[in-house]
Amino acid sequence: VKRIAVLTSGGDAPGMNAAIRAVVRKGIYHGLTVYGVERGYEGLIHGEFREMSLGSVADIIHRGGTTLRTARSKEMLTAEGQAAAAAQLRERGIDALIVIGGDGSYRGAQTLAALGIKIVGIPGTIDNDIPGTDLTIGFDTAINTVVEAVSKIRDTATSHERTFLVEVMGRTCGNIALQAGLACGAESILVPEIPFDLDEVVAKLRRGHERGKNHSIILVAEGVGGAYEMGEELRRRSGFETRVTILGHLQRGGNPSALDAVIASAMGGKAVEVLMRGETNQMTAYVNQEVIACPIEAAYGPRPPFNKNLYDLAEQLSI
Ligand code: F6P
Repeated sequence: VKRIAVLTSGGDAPGMNAAIRAVVRKGIYHGLTVYGVERGYEGLIHGEFREMSLGSVADIIHRGGTTLRTARSKEMLTAEGQAAAAAQLRERGIDALIVIGGDGSYRGAQTLAALGIKIVGIPGTIDNDIPGTDLTIGFDTAINTVVEAVSKIRDTATSHERTFLVEVMGRTCGNIALQAGLACGAESILVPEIPFDLDEVVAKLRRGHERGKNHSIILVAEGVGGAYEMGEELRRRSGFETRVTILGHLQRGGNPSALDAVIASAMGGKAVEVLMRGETNQMTAYVNQEVIACPIEAAYGPRPPFNKNLYDLAEQLSI
C-alpha cells in the first residue's frame, strides 16, 4: 500500500477530526501519500480528492464536526455509484480507503472491497450503536453535552416547578439516553429497548412530589418517539406542568472530550497500521479499554444487549 484515502460519512461526530489527523500524520510518517475525500461517498463518486499534508490537519484535533465534510450518499447505494467510486480511487492509484462513520458507511466500504479496494472502517457516530466496539467516536462528547444541557434545563425546571421531557438522539438506540440519564440523575429514562408504562412514570412523579420534589427531568430517547404527545399525556394524567425540549443537533457539535480525541487518534493510527500490514476488510474497535482491529463483519453482528443492569440501577437511584 502506497497511497491511501480517508473520508467521513453519515452523521458527523466530535472526534472525527482527530481521527482524520491521525490517519494523515501516521500515514505521512510511514511514507504513504494520503488523500482526503470531501463530502463522504458523494465526493468520492465525483472525484473530490485533495492530497493531505502535515499542515492540512493542523489545528483540528480539538474541533467538532469534520473538516472533510460528510454526506449521507444515496448514489453510493447504487451499483453505478459504487463502480464510479472505485474507478475514482483506481484512477489515482489509491489502493486503500479508510472510512470514518457508522454502519451504513461500512456497507458502502464493503461494496468497494468487493471491487478490489482495501478498506478499513473507523466507528464514528454519537449513537454508540455499532456492534463490535464498546465505544464509537463522538459518544462520550455527546453524553457530556446532554448532561451539560440538562443541568441548564434543571435550573429553569426547579424555578418553575415543572416536569421536563428532554429528547435526546440515538436513532433506534437508547444508549445516549441511558448514560446521560444516569449521569444527570434523571427521574425517568425512556428508551426503545425497554417497555415502559406512562402510569408508572406518573406514579413516580407523584412519589417525588410527595417527598417535596418540585421538578423532574425525564430523558426520552428519540427512538421512543412522540415526546410532545407524551409531555401532553403526562400533564393530563398527573396534573403537573410539563415542557418538552428536543436537544437535537446540538448533541452532534462541540469540541471532542479528551476520551473521544484519544480514542479517535488511536483508531486513526491503528487503521493505517492495518493497511500497512496489507490487511483489508477490517474495522478498528475499542474493546476492554484498548483500540484493536478486527474483521469488519463484527459491525454487522447483533447489537450488544442493552445495558439493563445500568438501566435498573438508574431506576433504583431515582425511586
Ligand atoms: O446517527 C447520528 C444521528 O445524530 C442520530 O442520532 C439521529 O437520529 C440522526 O443522526 C439524525 O440525522 P440527520 O443529521 O441526517 O438529521
